[in-house]
Amino acid sequence: MSKKQQVSRRQFLNYTLTGVGGFMAAGMLAPMVRMAVDPVLQPKKEGEFIKVGDVSEYSTTPTRVNFKLEQEDAWYTSEVSKTAWVYKNDEGDIVALSPICKHLGCVVNWEGGEGHENQFYCPCHGGLYEKNGNNVPGTPPLAPLDTYKTKIKDGSLYLGEAVPNTEV
Ligand code: FES
Repeated sequence: MSKKQQVSRRQFLNYTLTGVGGFMAAGMLAPMVRMAVDPVLQPKKEGEFIKVGDVSEYSTTPTRVNFKLEQEDAWYTSEVSKTAWVYKNDEGDIVALSPICKHLGCVVNWEGGEGHENQFYCPCHGGLYEKNGNNVPGTPPLAPLDTYKTKIKDGSLYLGEAVPNTEV
């Protein structure tokens, strides 16, 4: 073995201590990193549905419904209050619209204000929506109201999360 290839005692100690130190640091950091990113990596829980009454309670006139939904935000789970405008359409199917205006997030009202019969009205900037949630052209909102996922079981209506409305 030539002299150039020999490892000095000092180099050997440096390599060994660096290796052991790196191994120990990785052992300490790995659980911390896993704990920090784990909630983000978990598959999203299937949306929860909340019972909001019997289907027979609803008519063709939108009714304001308040309910609470459990919301998971990475590391934090909380209960949030939600509101929906619920009615039966001409086919007798349940429609549940989010009241959150798609312009700047105010709350819309059914037939709120004069001259807005059979429409949802947003008092903040005069936004208008048709009964099916479609935004009225020429008013500030540029998208339809979100719709809640619905489920009917044993005559009861359940609402899930609100999703952007792509059908109107
Ligand atoms: S927030 Fe509804 S019209 Fe502006």
